[in-house]
Amino acid sequence: MAFTIVNTPCTVPLVKGFENQNYVGLRPISSLKFKSARTSTFGRSGALFVVRACERFDGSVKKAEMSIEECEAAVVAGNAPEAPPVPPKPAAPVGTPVIQPYQLTRRPRRNRKSPALRASFQETSLSPANFVYPLFIHEGQEDTPIGAMPGCYRLGWRHGLVEEVAKARDVGVNSIVLFPKVPDALKSPTGDEAYNDNGLVPRTIRLLKDKFPDLVIYTDVALDPYSSDGHDGIVREDGVIMNDETVHQLCKQTVSQARAGADVVSPSDMMDGRVGAIRAALDSEGFHHVSIMSYTAKYASSFYGPFREALDSNPRFGDKKTYQMNPANYREALVEAHEDEAEGADILLVKPGLPYLDIIRLLRNQSPLPIAAYQVSGEYSMIKAGGVLKMIDEERVMMESLMCLRRAGADIILTYFALQAARCLCGEKK
Ligand code: PBG
Repeated sequence: MAFTIVNTPCTVPLVKGFENQNYVGLRPISSLKFKSARTSTFGRSGALFVVRACERFDGSVKKAEMSIEECEAAVVAGNAPEAPPVPPKPAAPVGTPVIQPYQLTRRPRRNRKSPALRASFQETSLSPANFVYPLFIHEGQEDTPIGAMPGCYRLGWRHGLVEEVAKARDVGVNSIVLFPKVPDALKSPTGDEAYNDNGLVPRTIRLLKDKFPDLVIYTDVALDPYSSDGHDGIVREDGVIMNDETVHQLCKQTVSQARAGADVVSPSDMMDGRVGAIRAALDSEGFHHVSIMSYTAKYASSFYGPFREALDSNPRFGDKKTYQMNPANYREALVEAHEDEAEGADILLVKPGLPYLDIIRLLRNQSPLPIAAYQVSGEYSMIKAGGVLKMIDEERVMMESLMCLRRAGADIILTYFALQAARCLCGEKK
């Protein structure tokens, strides 16, 4: 098995296509570990190798005091100096059939022959700058583990969260998205807590901006954490999710988030027309500089299960199929993408990630806008579970899944692995 996930104990600047400018918390070059990189990873597949342009070896040729002309004359006279002979052909195992080689004009394996060649021809790169780190927050002071998402916590907004953000920045992850666990007593059918300027999210944004002014803060725009029905919109008596009335609330929510200092608001609700309405609301309040990342193709997926447990946001009845998309649909993603583009979205998002690579590629090919992929809670938990059960190599599957999302066309990836993967890319272990 030979795949070329960049997973190296070297420093970040060696990772292909990596820009180390504008970077927060890069490991200094002095922490290079050439030795261990070369000795401990060559044999194992999956790890990258640091290739030095020239090797120093002992027994270097002793320099005779000859001019260039004398050296050339010696060669012309037929006295070429000695160089190592061509090594003998390596032996094949006994019993290997002796055959005439096939006459192939193309042998693609030639370009995969060595670590150095593979590194040269790697088409896709992965960097901590591609990651957006989703973080769950709550009012408490302790961090509480999320059962269905090993390694993830509901973080206390004043303590655990700040520490987690600092850790992420330390390995080059400078973008986060916040998901609040709202006390039940503050939930209502119309989700009005969503635009309380002193609610958990706006308060947290102000705190983070105070501590880390250059942190990029994405927010989630939808009513579900604030809705007593657990739906992304207002639910009518007969169970219908009311579109325009919900959008009205979402506009208030985004303005409140923008006022607190959010950089990118991300409507994940899948109501019709919300991107245009949100753009207008932001602009009318002077927030022209705030971007909109639209959940363009968000599917009604069972992969969200662990997330809903994390936020205790399961719909109280029914499902989300009248607003989230049918997983069987492909062309419908184009309808959504055209609308979002026309309404002024800055980034188009596809969710979930890995099971929907075709949709990522579709939007990548159809739109000049940046594309985001959300590797959702269920994808994360499956990889974690497989790792815990020792059925797969968690770290390598993690890196491969992220690389595949990039290869499919995602510019940025929202992933619960952001910190773990960035540490890996920076050469840190766990
Ligand atoms: C809801 C929202 C969901 C996720 C992000 N925003 C869940 C849902 O639609 O019920 C899911 C993220 C994940 O599963 O990781 N607005």
